[in-house]
Amino acid sequence: MSTDCDHRCLGHRQSHRPRIWMPNSRERMRAHALFLLLLLATTFLTSSTATDTIDQTASITGNQTLVSAGGIFRLGFFTPPGSSDGGTYIGIWYASIHVQTVVWVANRQNPVIRSPGVLRLSPDGRLVIIDGQNTTIWSSAAPTRTVTSRATARLLDSGNFLLSSDGSGTPQSVAWQSFDYPTDTHLPGMRLGVDLKAGIARNITSYTSPTDPAPGAYTFKLVIGGMPEFFLFRGAEKIYASGPWNGASLTGVQDKAEGYTFTVVSNPDETYYAYSMTDPTMLSRFVVDGTSGQLQSLVWGAGAWSTYWYYPADPCDSYNRCGAFGYCDMAQATRCSCLPGFRPKSEQQRILGCVRKTDLNCPGAGDGFWPVNQMKLPDATNATVHADMTLDDCRQLCLGNCSCTAYAAANVSGGVSRGCVIWAVDLLDMRQYTVVVQDMYIRLPQSEVDALSAAAAAANRRRPHRRVVIGVVTAISGLLLLGAVVYCFFWRSKASTKPQAQMAPSSRAGMATSSMADVPPGARKHSALRTAQDRLMNESRMSSEKDLDLPLFDLEAILAATDNFSADSKIGQGGFGPVYMAKLEDGQEVAVKRLSKKSVQGVVEFKNEVKLIAKLQHRNLVRLLGCCIDDHERMLVYEFMHNNSLDTFIFDEGKRKLLGWKNRFEIILGIARGLLYLHEDSRVRIIHRDLKASNVLLDRNMIPKISDFGIARMFGGDQTTAYTAKVIGTYGYMSPEYAMDGVFSMKSDIYSFGVLVLEIITGKKNRGFYNEELDLNLLGYAWKLWKEGQGVDLLDEAMGDTIDQSVALRCVQVALLCVEVHPRNRPLMSSVVMMLSSEDGTLPEPNEPGVNIGKSISDTDYSQTHTATSFTGTAVDAR
Ligand SMILES: *[C@@H]1O[C@H](CO)[C@@H](O)[C@H](O)[C@H]1NC(C)=O
Ligand SMILES: *[C@@H]1O[C@H](CO)[C@@H](O)[C@H](O)[C@H]1NC(C)=O
Ligand SMILES: *[C@@H]1O[C@H](CO)[C@@H](O)[C@H](O)[C@H]1NC(C)=O
Ligand SMILES: *[C@@H]1O[C@H](CO)[C@@H](O)[C@H](O)[C@H]1NC(C)=O
Ligand SMILES: *[C@@H]1O[C@H](CO)[C@@H](O)[C@H](O)[C@H]1NC(C)=O
Ligand SMILES: *[C@@H]1O[C@H](CO)[C@@H](O)[C@H](O)[C@H]1NC(C)=O
Repeated sequence: MSTDCDHRCLGHRQSHRPRIWMPNSRERMRAHALFLLLLLATTFLTSSTATDTIDQTASITGNQTLVSAGGIFRLGFFTPPGSSDGGTYIGIWYASIHVQTVVWVANRQNPVIRSPGVLRLSPDGRLVIIDGQNTTIWSSAAPTRTVTSRATARLLDSGNFLLSSDGSGTPQSVAWQSFDYPTDTHLPGMRLGVDLKAGIARNITSYTSPTDPAPGAYTFKLVIGGMPEFFLFRGAEKIYASGPWNGASLTGVQDKAEGYTFTVVSNPDETYYAYSMTDPTMLSRFVVDGTSGQLQSLVWGAGAWSTYWYYPADPCDSYNRCGAFGYCDMAQATRCSCLPGFRPKSEQQRILGCVRKTDLNCPGAGDGFWPVNQMKLPDATNATVHADMTLDDCRQLCLGNCSCTAYAAANVSGGVSRGCVIWAVDLLDMRQYTVVVQDMYIRLPQSEVDALSAAAAAANRRRPHRRVVIGVVTAISGLLLLGAVVYCFFWRSKASTKPQAQMAPSSRAGMATSSMADVPPGARKHSALRTAQDRLMNESRMSSEKDLDLPLFDLEAILAATDNFSADSKIGQGGFGPVYMAKLEDGQEVAVKRLSKKSVQGVVEFKNEVKLIAKLQHRNLVRLLGCCIDDHERMLVYEFMHNNSLDTFIFDEGKRKLLGWKNRFEIILGIARGLLYLHEDSRVRIIHRDLKASNVLLDRNMIPKISDFGIARMFGGDQTTAYTAKVIGTYGYMSPEYAMDGVFSMKSDIYSFGVLVLEIITGKKNRGFYNEELDLNLLGYAWKLWKEGQGVDLLDEAMGDTIDQSVALRCVQVALLCVEVHPRNRPLMSSVVMMLSSEDGTLPEPNEPGVNIGKSISDTDYSQTHTATSFTGTAVDAR
């Protein structure tokens, strides 16, 4: 009995509390209050909303509303908050949340100005809105089947307002539905696309402004061309494309979105895109937002909507960013490259697009094909699909038609190629990914194909030396970065003596070095190495400040990009000042940390952060793009993290359901790799000292990045331990020896890592969790269950059946090893990474964790570090 209860208590401590009620008077009073509240709520609901249906005898006016049977959605008249003309609209919004969020508007172009408006079902089966002077200001499209006098319009829990011709509500009786006429919102179950049989095209279009639902500039819709593809339009201009649908994926969408199930259906009758939530109780919506011009996915949690992902999200998402026969690659500073066999159309950067190095031989023989496969397929609106052809037939067809530029399989559903698609147009809107999307064959003269094969073979032969080359490159880039550090240390004197030779943010040449360690094998590596050497030469001449590795951003540019540090662009409060989101001229989104002028501690931390993080380049560390120094301003510019910090997911009742086991395991591994790099693999040894969930940021692919190096320390040579008189860090994550004696080492970071792993697995805060019955905090509780062989009960129920129990239990065991009381018993990060990633091998048995297992320390200074933003609080003085 006890484990069963513990299990439930851990998962839903609040909701299950009544089951373990102690009949004391306080609880009883609470129960009474709760009952009264419920009673009030029910009376309110029943009195104001008798029904979810109207028929030809009923109508809605004033503040009357319909509420769907399950109480999810409400329909009625509303006025957009902030609107000045007082016009009202019929809309549908969530009944269950306090922030009025309208998902559908009937009369979006014609508000009711002369009240009262009335919504009724006319005898001919149209929904009509009539204003105070009997003028019909809106009416729904004609019903698609004859309606009887028993017809009803019912608001469903899906948010669909459905007219049933005979009141039965069966699919055969549907005569009209609001889901066929979306506004700016796509809800689960809605079909976005084209229904050729019914002659309906469903798209979503932004509001004109937050107070005016009339159709605005942005529309997200399906375009049926050769292959179906979704586009975001601004007016008539395409600004983002999902990539063609190839039967298996939208070839331009690489993000993992756990918690969502997407479907694209494409057949002669209809083509559409729909989605559902793995957890149907979770409120979620897609919206075309007229302010940002983005397609956003939002989820409800912790009393607010948060954006889970959005498009376009980076410069490479811009439609056709690199022009014809070019492709965009975020890993390159210049972004744009030409397809193999092509060269830039012009040396001038402003002129985009590429042209053939050598003309095709067509109509004669002598052309061939070069395959690429890590690419978003080009815009396929004007491509031609041949459903019955094999790839070989297609190749012949392409060779026989001089305008043919490329071909690919049209449908790769289930890993089988079916049919083919031919492009006889310029190839537009391609983008490089790090994963294989699908093979695509680009037509080139045979001479180019031969040259490319020879180059590839040569690159293969060179591959055995790869390690050495990368070693050299890494070492060199390390030195370069050291140069940057030296520079940034002297920024002050320089800034005050002469005007800067400032780099425009759009031409941050210095960033080329940042990806060097990851340069893929082949020709590019060679040139990267050469530039690195050139730069080193420059640097060693103790160069002028023109050749910086840490780019300087122009204050003007930052002011423009943050709208003069407007409140709207502020996304959080870091340890030493506010953090803003900014969109640079070239569309890149960055986070700007601004040092508060008052903070003395801030100056120290600012320098520390610059000094340390500038030396570091790792996939699991947040990347510093540059700094901005002006007379009175000091700022750090980072890559922007779309998914905020880890705590906004794992500790949020709603959003943690989006983190399935696979995501969580990848996050644990990522943090471990980042920490391993800090401790053992970078040129210097760095102790982070403040590892916690809010200091782990998540990018758009949910890859974790350790951030906030404000209080990190660098160890030299063989140093392994240090002492500090001033203990800074965050309670709950601090190892006992650090909290009590100020001793810190790699092992104190490893302790924090162990706490973090337990939090990720359980979805509970170490400091927030407190089991009253057992008088245990999370660590103590985990240890107890583990010792009793009940480790499974720790696993967050929100992960559902995505969980791999044996791996999860191995993580718990590793975490418990990391939080052992004696630092010497805690494993090093290298062993942690090995233990986490190896399938077999027995792990040591953990000993009791090193905490005052009982009561947690008071939570007073904790809450300030928990905000729903990137770059949240740093050091909380432990006092
Ligand atoms: C609805 O409006 C009527 C009259 O304007 C008002 O008396 C009533 O309190 C309102 N009801 C609610 C629930 O707002
Ligand atoms: C609107 O029409 C109804 C019935 O047709 C009528 O009773 C009412 O007086 C009219 N109201 C106005 C303002 O014309
Ligand atoms: C979106 O669909 C509506 C029909 O629901 C249509 O009237 C409108 O023209 C479409 N908008 C665009 C931009 O395609
Ligand atoms: C792709 O092929 C699969 C399997 O034959 C089929 O079910 C699906 O409808 C096809 N998709 C398209 C877009 O043709
Ligand atoms: C498709 O063809 C039309 C008409 O020729 C042209 O206007 C349009 O730009 C083409 N689109 C693409 C993506 O090639
Ligand atoms: C070449 O292919 C394109 C697209 O499939 C087609 O429109 C054109 O008519 C073809 N030209 C010839 C000469 O077959």
